[in-house]
Amino acid sequence: MSASTDSQRMEKIVSLCKRRGFIFQSSEIYGGLNGAWDYGPLGVELKRNLKNYWWRVMVHERDDVVGMDGSILMNRAVWKASGHEGTFSDLMRECTYTHKRVRADQVLPQSGTEFSFSGAASPRDGTKCEFPIPLVILCRKGEHPDSVRRIARECFATIAARKLAPDEVKTLKLLGEQTRPIENSTDYHPETGGLLSEPRPFNLMFKTYVGATEDESSLTYLRPETAQSIFVEFKNILEVSRKKLPFGIAQIGKAFRNEINPRNFTFRSREFEQMELEYFCRPEQGMKLLEYWKEERLKFYENIGISRSKLHVLTVPDEERAFYSKGTYDIEYDFPFGRQELEGVAYRTDYDLSQHQKASGKSLEYFDEETKQKFIPHVVEPSAGVDRTVLALICEAYAEDEAPDEKGKMETRIVLRFHPRIAPIKCAVFPLLKNKEPLVAKAKEIVDLLRPHTYVFYDESGAIGRRYRRQDEIGTPFGVTVDFETLGEKDPALRDTVTLRDRDSMKQERVAIQDLPVILLERIV
Ligand code: GAP
Repeated sequence: MSASTDSQRMEKIVSLCKRRGFIFQSSEIYGGLNGAWDYGPLGVELKRNLKNYWWRVMVHERDDVVGMDGSILMNRAVWKASGHEGTFSDLMRECTYTHKRVRADQVLPQSGTEFSFSGAASPRDGTKCEFPIPLVILCRKGEHPDSVRRIARECFATIAARKLAPDEVKTLKLLGEQTRPIENSTDYHPETGGLLSEPRPFNLMFKTYVGATEDESSLTYLRPETAQSIFVEFKNILEVSRKKLPFGIAQIGKAFRNEINPRNFTFRSREFEQMELEYFCRPEQGMKLLEYWKEERLKFYENIGISRSKLHVLTVPDEERAFYSKGTYDIEYDFPFGRQELEGVAYRTDYDLSQHQKASGKSLEYFDEETKQKFIPHVVEPSAGVDRTVLALICEAYAEDEAPDEKGKMETRIVLRFHPRIAPIKCAVFPLLKNKEPLVAKAKEIVDLLRPHTYVFYDESGAIGRRYRRQDEIGTPFGVTVDFETLGEKDPALRDTVTLRDRDSMKQERVAIQDLPVILLERIV
């Protein structure tokens, strides 16, 4: 069941992301590219903090996992063996006049009047140029039929222009129109109103050609998941790491899918990153490890600041699971646009390694030294999306509350309540006044003291309240202010102390400069 949506909140988040440099549309100055996004200065920090924490928890803090970084381009044989070339597709329907595609399961029912137009162009030479296939468009309830007639005329004009040179077309006529009422039908394109074709599978992999020729012999694909390079490198990594079952191989990297309907900001993109672990085990361990990894992954999300109440575990029903999987969970999050998948945790059995063993002719078996048996390991796969998690982090962090302005009057404050662990900038350092040299010098000293430990930002411009607000809006958890007490002007006992401000409570405490690195590191971890 889907949680309620909040489109206004989502609009504010998208606008903040652009305004403060988290996420921009790719190729924006050329009109953008649908399904592709660029991360700006703050977005890239957030993304790196997320990936680094995933790597720390999944690789560095464990004895049983090693990492790898595979290539995006792989031999086409990989995608044949994995089944992606044959079956990695969504069922699509196509608008019969704009050829715009839509996922067959995402067509909402519509009502109105169906218009079937026939048309003809009269070339100057007196011959006739009729368009044999009628153009079928739904005039939805509330729409004026003239707008549908205009579309039909434009559409026939385009067809005529393709058949005849523009100066050959004398007149263009709609020869006739037939209408019939339509109630709750899913046969029309939700945006164009055009009649939809029957559903057809549409492969989601991007084709590319490797080498000098552009033909079948050089065809391969941009990888649609990182997992396959882990399976293909399984034997090499087993040998060099000398791990015993159960053990895992982790990877973070780009994946590409020609999604038919990229939407919800970065949620469904055509280029995205995955954080995947393939955890190899004995067949009898599979189901237990599936439960184990589901719990580990839930803990991970809580540890980066996502509240447990907004996370949900969906047990993927038998009929929707890949045929080779013995169990799959989706970890979902309540985004403002509804409850959607963040990560899949799947028990994939020995399917992938068996497929590659069969297709490559190379043994991918594991030799058990205790039992002296050889077998193909099974695998449990937690597979998370970097971009989706970044989006969830921003959605979770976004808040509006009240804070006093310069004159003490309450005003609305936008604040990103990121967990300090993943916040792009950890601490901002401010001299109270920028035209007081001793304050500026001390603040810069503090920046130098903290920089080797964590990412800090120095800001001297504008009133101090404004500076706090700017940092609140990008989620900086701590602010250090150098004031006259720091210089010991009022009370020598306060020399070399600063105020440390907490973003969420807005409370300030007085701490010694020399203690700052330890205090901050303890709170950031
Ligand atoms: N190796 C298994 C696999 O790729 P998946 O459920 O297709 O499984 C795993 O993808 C995760 O990758 C998803 O849970 C999601 O977080 C992310 N992902 C998949 N398609 C995506 C897309 N078009 N845009 C952004 N993230 C995507």
